[in-house]
Amino acid sequence: MTAHYVSMLSFRQDAVNEPLSAAKPDRLSWKAPGHRQDADVAPPPGTFTLRRMTPQPNPQVGAAVKAADRAHVFHSWSAQELIDPLAVAGAEGSYFWDYEGKRYLDFTSGLVFTNIGYQHPKVVAAIQEQAATLSTFAPAFAVEARSEAARLIAERTPGDLDKIFFTNGGAEAVENATRMARLHTGRPKVLSAYRSYHGATSTAINLTGDPRRWPNDSGAAGVVHFWAPFLYRSPFHSDSEQQECERALQHLEDTIAFEGPGTVAAIILETIPGTAGIMTPPPGYLAGVRALCDRYGIIFILDEVMAGFGRTGKWFAADHYDVTPDLMTFAKGVNSGYVPLGGVAISSAIAETFARRPYPGGLTYSGHPLACAAAVATINVMEEEGIVEQAARIGETVLGPGLRELAARHPSVGEVRGTGVFWALELVKDRETREPLVPYNAAGEANGPMVAFGAAAKARGLWPFINMNRTHVVPPCNVSEGEAKEGLAALDEALSVADEYTV
Ligand SMILES: Cc1ncc(COP(=O)(O)O)c(C=O)c1O
Repeated sequence: MTAHYVSMLSFRQDAVNEPLSAAKPDRLSWKAPGHRQDADVAPPPGTFTLRRMTPQPNPQVGAAVKAADRAHVFHSWSAQELIDPLAVAGAEGSYFWDYEGKRYLDFTSGLVFTNIGYQHPKVVAAIQEQAATLSTFAPAFAVEARSEAARLIAERTPGDLDKIFFTNGGAEAVENATRMARLHTGRPKVLSAYRSYHGATSTAINLTGDPRRWPNDSGAAGVVHFWAPFLYRSPFHSDSEQQECERALQHLEDTIAFEGPGTVAAIILETIPGTAGIMTPPPGYLAGVRALCDRYGIIFILDEVMAGFGRTGKWFAADHYDVTPDLMTFAKGVNSGYVPLGGVAISSAIAETFARRPYPGGLTYSGHPLACAAAVATINVMEEEGIVEQAARIGETVLGPGLRELAARHPSVGEVRGTGVFWALELVKDRETREPLVPYNAAGEANGPMVAFGAAAKARGLWPFINMNRTHVVPPCNVSEGEAKEGLAALDEALSVADEYTV
C-alpha cells in the first residue's frame, strides 16, 4: 500500500521540470465545466500530474486512495470507523468529481471557503510563480507577497483596521484576536454567543456556541456565553425584528453588568453566524453592540472567517451594517483556501498598544509567501471579475427568489434566510410549531431524515451543506446563474424527500 501511495502522488518529472514562466495556457486552461473528457491529459495510471484537471473515471486509483485514507488518515470531528469519505479525483469551478467520473455541483464551497471556485487558473499560476520565486521565508522579514497581501486586505477592511497579523487559518486568528484584546484591556473574560462557531483550537472552541465545545470545555477558559438575536427561534419570545434587537441588546448589557464590566476584555460575534445557521442580525443590533463596547471599554471582535471576502455580496458582512469592530478575523475566502491562510485585522488603537511593547504571539508560517501570493491573486481576480458583485446579484436574482419559491411548495422548509451566496433553509417537521426536522445535535436513527435528504441531493448530483436540521446554500461567489438554477432544481427534488417526514 505504501509503495502504491508514493507512486500515486509522485509528480511527473517532465511536468515539474519545465520552467514555470512557460506555464502554460494549455496546462492551466480554464475549461468550461461541460468539457470534461480530455484524452490528451489522461495521466498514466498511478501517477498524479499537474494536468489532471478533468474527470477521468479510474475506479482502481479511487479504491487505492480510499484504502490509504482509511488506513492512515485521521479525520476531523469523526468517529474514525463510522465515516466513509468520498475519494475525490478533481475539481474545477463550482464542481468536483469522484473516480467513477460522477460529478457534483458543490453547494458547500468546500467548508465555505472556495469563494472563487476550484482551480482558478490565475490563482494557480500565481502560486506556481511564487513557488518558483520564493516558496517560503521566515515571518520576521518583509517579503513582497506578504506586504502586498496585507496592503490589499487592509484597503478593504472597514475603518482603521489597517494592520494585518497573518495566521494559518481561522481558529488561530480567533485565538490571537482574543489574546490581543486581553492584553490591550488587561481584562480576562470574553463574551461569545450561543449558536456560534469560532474554530477548534483551545480558546476558539471554548468561545464556540455549539455542541463541539462540550467535550473540549475546560470550564476555565474565561468565556461567558450569551444569546444573540434569532427571531425564528427567539430566546426572548419576540414577535418582531425590532423587539428581538432591543431585547437581545438588553440581555447583552445585563450580562455585562452581572459579569462585571471591568472583567470583560472582548465581545466576539460572527457578523452573520455561519455554521450555526446564517442568522442575519436585525437592523441596529451590531451598532448596538458597538455602542455597548464603547460604553464599557470592551473590545469588539467581528469574526468574518466565513462571512468575509464576498460571501454576503460585499467584501465583508460588516459592510452591510456600517459597523467597524476593533479586531476582525478572516481566513477561508481571503485566498479561497488554495493555501492555508487567516489573519486578524487590527485597529490603530490596538496596534498602538504593541507599537513599543512586543506582541507575545507568533507563528513560524505567519504570512507564508505561497499563501499570501494566493491571497493577492484571489483579491485581484475578485476585483477584475466582479466576483463580489456577482455574489450579490446571484443572491438577489436567483438564490433568494428561488429558495423562497421552494419554501412555498415544500412543507419541510420552515424558514429561508440569507444574503449573497450565504443562505440557510431551516427544515422542520411542522411549520406551525417550528419543531426541527431532527432534534438538536441528533445522531444515528434520530438524524435519519437529514441523512435521507442529503442522500437524495447527492443522487441528483448536488453536494449539500448539512448542519443539524438545516441545509445551507453556500456555492462559490462566482457560481453562474445556470449552475445556481441547476442546484435549486436538485434541491427541489431532495426537499420532496424531506417533506415525507413532516406531519
Ligand atoms: C466563523 C468562523 N470562525 C472560525 C473558524 C475556524 O476556522 P479554521 O477552521 O480555519 O480554523 C470557522 C470555520 O469554519 C468559522 O466559520
